[in-house]
Amino acid sequence: MPSAERTILVTSALPYANGPIHIGHLVEYIQTDIWVRFQRMRGHRCLYVCADDAHGTPIMLKAQQEGVTPEALIARVGAEHRADFADFAIGFDNYYTTHSPENRAFANRIYEGLRAGGHIVTRAIRQAYDPVKEMFLPDRFIRGECPRCGAQDQYGDSCEVCGATYSPTDLKNPVSALSGATPVERATEHDFVRLADFEPMLREWTGSGALQPEIVHKLDEWFQAGLQDWDITRDAPYFGFEMPGKPDKYFYVWLDAPVGYLASFRNLCDRRPDLDFDAFWAPESTAEVYHFIGKDIAYFHTLFWPAELTGGGFRRPSAVHCHGFLTVNGQKMSKSRGTFISARTYLEHLDPEYLRYYFAAKLGAGIDDIDLSLEDFVQRVNADLVGKVVNIASRCAGFIHKRFEGRLADRLADPGLFSAFVERGEAIAELFEGREYGRAMREVMQLADQANAWIDERKPWQVAKEPGREAELQAICSLGLELFRVLAIYLKPVLPRVAERVESFLDVPPLAWADLDRPLLGHRVRPFTPLMTRVERERVDAMVDAAKPRTAPAESATPVTGSVVGIDEFAKVDLRVARVLAAETVEGADKLLRLTLDLGGETRTVFAGIRSAYDAAALVGRLTVVVANLAPRKMRFGVSEGMVLAAGPGGKDIFLLAPDEGAEPGMRVK
Ligand code: 2FM
Ligand code: ZN
Repeated sequence: MPSAERTILVTSALPYANGPIHIGHLVEYIQTDIWVRFQRMRGHRCLYVCADDAHGTPIMLKAQQEGVTPEALIARVGAEHRADFADFAIGFDNYYTTHSPENRAFANRIYEGLRAGGHIVTRAIRQAYDPVKEMFLPDRFIRGECPRCGAQDQYGDSCEVCGATYSPTDLKNPVSALSGATPVERATEHDFVRLADFEPMLREWTGSGALQPEIVHKLDEWFQAGLQDWDITRDAPYFGFEMPGKPDKYFYVWLDAPVGYLASFRNLCDRRPDLDFDAFWAPESTAEVYHFIGKDIAYFHTLFWPAELTGGGFRRPSAVHCHGFLTVNGQKMSKSRGTFISARTYLEHLDPEYLRYYFAAKLGAGIDDIDLSLEDFVQRVNADLVGKVVNIASRCAGFIHKRFEGRLADRLADPGLFSAFVERGEAIAELFEGREYGRAMREVMQLADQANAWIDERKPWQVAKEPGREAELQAICSLGLELFRVLAIYLKPVLPRVAERVESFLDVPPLAWADLDRPLLGHRVRPFTPLMTRVERERVDAMVDAAKPRTAPAESATPVTGSVVGIDEFAKVDLRVARVLAAETVEGADKLLRLTLDLGGETRTVFAGIRSAYDAAALVGRLTVVVANLAPRKMRFGVSEGMVLAAGPGGKDIFLLAPDEGAEPGMRVK
């Protein structure tokens, strides 16, 4: 039986308000939502809050790029995030924003508390400054040559080629990624939190069982390296909260981001008289508080955040649960491979509950990465959910409906089997509680196999043909549906929408864990309607296709005008000199030429919509400019492996860009 009622507050990390939710994010929201739904089914009081992380330089710059205010940007993205989460059945009690009065008040309270406790030091520092944009540059916005290996175009904090980490002042030939200007060093005064002051508290907290062993290990390393003072100031221009009494100085986004947990919950309490904020957050609170996060932000949540909470006079979290990253088909998510899939693109093609199940089947309590293999996804959802679970109901429901007017038997055909199913409830609950969802799903599928085997042995389809075996038929099919009901309870945290359809079919109130041993004897069910359909591989392929970046249409020379591309975006385009080795017309495409290009030792096929302006033969031997890192695009006539650049209104007036003679195939265009 579940323990006495618990009072629990749960959060997931706050996504940045400058881009869409993608399937990588969803690992966490699905993991958290399953846990919350499970707690509620066990009869506990479990609140779940989140918010958009709305501050910081990238959001400010993105708004500038779009020509809107940051407020307008975060409002738009916030609405998109809410819709995505709602469609994935992520059941937040409140979804708020860090750009809120509550958050400002809590951030100030924490800052003042830290200052009053003597944990803030103010120091003059020297930082890279962009003289053109007139702003200090975050490390990520400075690029240059790696001081260790000399690789070009590396970030200001680390080299993607050799893995070196360094400070931006070490970069050779640094440039601002915003303006291209050479940064200059400028002095500024910043506030720092003396994290080392909190080391005894942090050591005690990390030893209290609040963290996974892998994270405790990481913390030990950080303790050993020595806790550095934490810079919490950013200079104007910045989108965030101005620091009290410090004009033109702002709180660093990471100071007020986790404070958003408090603010979102405060905002909820203000609408819910049954909730008392202090009962959750006062130092003496007995409520449980859990943060679900990705392992990449453990540092912020296990060092900075407990220090902030202590400074502000709040309790610390009961635990921080970290998860790993998502890979797709064994590799990092990639835009060009079509595996960087936004929540919306997924929703346009597939049922969200497929993904909820697949992630559940893969998730454990550790911080290992999980892989979404698209092949396995199709196979597993179809085999487990449709082939095993739904199959139990669809085999039994028809007979109950047609032969018994929907009425279930008054007795259990096999009480021992029913009890065995119910008895697994505590073990499965323990697995959910410990976030071992994969193991829970395996338990459930084993039970589904057992139920199917039991039905196979009793062969209701044969019994149905034999006169005088009506009661037996009703008893077999009723038990089948009863076992199915038990499985639906176990799966409900993972598949809330399927569970709703099951509740409607069984004509029962929302199912909870306590309903396990309450069989529906003599109960009337409704006619069966399909609960879940198979995943079609074609839908998955269409989704991957839709997730690939759109390339310029090859069949028509549409002029590109309008949207602004920042220098850092533009710097990603790899332009090369190419020589046309061959040019041919393409059957069935009267605007296209198939070009074979030499990129300096590498040969590529590119389809270009320039046939109206060029004779194929006349192009052979000419030099042109090609976008060499455009994602390959599958067309009806073959794969296009880049794009040649041309200008002009169209028709005869299309002009292939041609570098001066002397240029060599393969040269980079600067
Ligand atoms: O890493 C991120 O995406 C952050 N926006 C997470 C913030 S979680 C919390 F601290 F707000
Ligand atoms: Zn390097």
